[in-house]
Amino acid sequence: MKESTISLKVNGDSYTLRVPVNRTLLQVIREDLGLTGTKEGCCEGECGACTILLDGRPVNSCLVLAVEADGHEITTVEGLSSEGVLHPLQQVFIEEGAIQCGFCTPGMLMAALGLLNENPSPTEEEILKGIEGNLCRCTGYTRIIKAIKKASEIVAQEKQ
Ligand code: FES
Ligand code: FES
Repeated sequence: MKESTISLKVNGDSYTLRVPVNRTLLQVIREDLGLTGTKEGCCEGECGACTILLDGRPVNSCLVLAVEADGHEITTVEGLSSEGVLHPLQQVFIEEGAIQCGFCTPGMLMAALGLLNENPSPTEEEILKGIEGNLCRCTGYTRIIKAIKKASEIVAQEKQ
């Protein structure tokens, strides 16, 4: 398989890697960089478990080739906390019981962060739309939506 050299910035750290041209960004994140917080579910763009931020926007990393991400900035769930302090989204997911088995949680958090980047004060309908590509088989979504709404209020307060 043909290979290519790519440069990525992941959670603020720069990496230069040689990768087969058919390697997905998800494979690079999990297997080459060891950032296993990003989950591998369907690998077909259906479940959202692999959601990361590419230049601040949520994408399914199983559908992005690593070579397509060359020169871009990536944020994974490992990049959410800062110096041991959880991001408000993480803290509120815990407080609101928006996590059960936890498999969807990293992707859900990144989808939520992408939503708040674009729309800091979303309505419940907008939150539902923002996470429509992320499947959760456990929670019924109600607590997740409540948690994202609460986190948006905390983030807004922090910015004042
Ligand atoms: S693993 Fe990427 S969408 Fe399911
Ligand atoms: S908490 Fe189990 S899939 Fe969402």
